[in-house]
Amino acid sequence: MVKKDERRLRVGVLGCGPIAQAAHFESCTKAHNADLYAICDVADDLRQRMAATHAPEKSFADYDAMLADPDLEAVIIATSDAFHVAAAKKALDAGKHVLCEKPLATSVEAAEELGRAVRASGRILQVGHMKRFDAGLEAAKAFIADGMGEMVALKAWYCDSTHRYPMTDAVQPLMVSSAQAKKPAGNPKADLDRYYMLAHGSHLVDVARYFAGELVAVEARLSKRGGMHCWFVDVEFANGVLGQLDLTVAVRMDWHEGFQIYGANGSILGKTFNPWYFKSSEVDIFDEREGASRRVLGADGHFYRRQLEGFASVILDGAPMTGADIEDGIASVRAMVAIAQSAKSGKPVRLANASGEV
Ligand SMILES: NC(=O)c1ccc[n+]([C@@H]2O[C@H](COP(=O)([O-])OP(=O)(O)OC[C@H]3O[C@@H](n4cnc5c(N)ncnc54)[C@H](O)[C@@H]3O)[C@@H](O)[C@H]2O)c1
Repeated sequence: MVKKDERRLRVGVLGCGPIAQAAHFESCTKAHNADLYAICDVADDLRQRMAATHAPEKSFADYDAMLADPDLEAVIIATSDAFHVAAAKKALDAGKHVLCEKPLATSVEAAEELGRAVRASGRILQVGHMKRFDAGLEAAKAFIADGMGEMVALKAWYCDSTHRYPMTDAVQPLMVSSAQAKKPAGNPKADLDRYYMLAHGSHLVDVARYFAGELVAVEARLSKRGGMHCWFVDVEFANGVLGQLDLTVAVRMDWHEGFQIYGANGSILGKTFNPWYFKSSEVDIFDEREGASRRVLGADGHFYRRQLEGFASVILDGAPMTGADIEDGIASVRAMVAIAQSAKSGKPVRLANASGEV
């Protein structure tokens, strides 16, 4: 049973595409401290169908009209990556808080531009790196802060599976699409190096930063054989921690995602599931002092609803932001650009020198 708080954030979702259908509409409806106040999509057929299913108070074809609604407090931006920055800036200009899908932007310059707008606005912007709301990752983060001691090294891998669609088709709601949907010009999948980095690399980089902090340099190699894209990336964090990242699309096996962290007083080994199972990562936290591992259950694996609840409580209760903030979003874009540039040049790239498009 969903128990709703008395004071709830009135949220409007921009975009009625697959991510809104699979995650955000339900998150707003189930969140204890938020409501699905409005939805917006230029595609009339899609918007009307979603309004009938999810029953928002209001439904808009025009984004400006939604933003002009004085009762709307925040927007979830669930559009193509290419539209994130312009849509987020508009929302901030209208005085609304923003939960923006990942990746924040597709270029360092656009991300920085949005950063300036956020800092000037006094509004909250959180990036939809929902893995930060996985109870397994949260337990690992807590152990890093108060038990593991000095971190030495981190490995993280994100390997999409050739079997993902039979699995997601089975567990997600039936997706509704529309010929009227607004899409960026050109086919985003025409350049798969870029598409995979933006879609999947953004998650991997954010998880690495969530655990080990600021990334300063990367050295990447990209192998394209057997119909696969496989990036192996040596990374260096500002605190001197060394890391290795593996981004592979797609392995010939089940979804393969996880991380391993070595610290002075313990180690962490995490296995992450495809998010659409709504199952928290299995994270074994080995504490050297106890000579034993523990693992949180994390029964509530609705990462998307939990990220919205976190966002709403920053706004409504002044709670600290535990999601990815604007600086995290910018840093992830820089990291993706640096990895892509390093893979092309064969040379290490410092994030401070990264510029341009992913
Ligand atoms: N966090 C995750 O796990 C996860 C998973 C999948 C996708 N995503 C992200 O979600 C985002 C959206 O993905 P998608 O596949 O749902 O996108 P999509 O392009 O299929 O759907 C977006 C919808 O937004 C509408 N739209 C776009 N601009 C509009 C505007 N100005 N006014 C009104 N309507 C507008 C379009 O008509 C379309 O229906 C992407 O950035 C993607 O990276 C995140």
